[in-house]
Amino acid sequence: MSIRRIGLTLAAFALGLWPAAAPAADPSPELLARGKYVFATAGGCGCHTPPDAVGLNAGGQKFELLIGTIYSRNITPDGETGIGRWTDAQVANAIRRGERPDGSRLFPIHPYKYLANIADDETEALVAYLKSVKPVRSTVPPRALRIPVPALTVPTAPKVAPREGLARGQYLAGGAAHCADCHTPRRFDGSPDDTKFMAGGPGPEGSQPSNITAHLETGIGRWSEAQIARFLKTGVKPSGPEAFSLMRVVIRGTSAGFKDLTDADALAIARYIKTVPPIENKVR
Ligand code: HEC
Repeated sequence: MSIRRIGLTLAAFALGLWPAAAPAADPSPELLARGKYVFATAGGCGCHTPPDAVGLNAGGQKFELLIGTIYSRNITPDGETGIGRWTDAQVANAIRRGERPDGSRLFPIHPYKYLANIADDETEALVAYLKSVKPVRSTVPPRALRIPVPALTVPTAPKVAPREGLARGQYLAGGAAHCADCHTPRRFDGSPDDTKFMAGGPGPEGSQPSNITAHLETGIGRWSEAQIARFLKTGVKPSGPEAFSLMRVVIRGTSAGFKDLTDADALAIARYIKTVPPIENKVR
């Protein structure tokens, strides 16, 4: 514990803020680097840093849905307007279970159906990274919904993330990288239509995510694993054109994105994507 930390801790104690506001031990640089990598595998949590954001993770992206309007929230460590006062467990619960410290629920536009699968070890690193970036004081407008917020039942995350191979690819694609969140079309009530798992169609914000099943004509069945992996890291398709729309957002990311995937992780995701059963669905 540094002298400054001890001072802060004593000050907090004197103010009667102990233990709620007591800063945790400084996270190690290794933990922060691992957390930044988890952030990269989540596409840099791009929705929380729209192009007009006042800073990394400061939120404010507006989503206009049939059922109302939602803004992505400030997830910087600012104490007033961000997540600065939340404990690590509270931040983890918001990310993975859609639960806020005040007991309210996040609308599942926050993809916790997928983020619920981020293993405990990687969640710990991710939370440490989120708390390490610059706090930005910025109040995001409240959401206005015409329906109650649904409660999704989510699985319990593994304790330790798979490290390699197909298991790693499936873990990333179905977790932090939330491929299916965009690539599986939704029903009227917003729930994913799993009969079209990864088969593309109308996606968030008027986007048209591609059919990424192994279907030869309407999917990416003709792409090799290496071509899929290269696309995830560079946005360049085998036929030449570059990724656009939301795919470009998650590849570029913010402070990190899919472009920062290790070669091994990009290939592991590609291997898994090749196992997704082909579904005929012409998107464009
Ligand atoms: C935030 C939404 C979003 C997420 C998350 C996302 N994608 Fe996409 N993806 C899109 C959109 C939109 C397109 C269409 C734009 C384009 O083709 O460049 C696309 C296009 C693609 C394409 C190009 C297919 C083609 O036929 O041109 C591939 C491959 C792809 N995504 C794979 C993935 C994989 C694998 C993941 C998870 C690791 C993923 N995407 C996560 C939105 C997303």
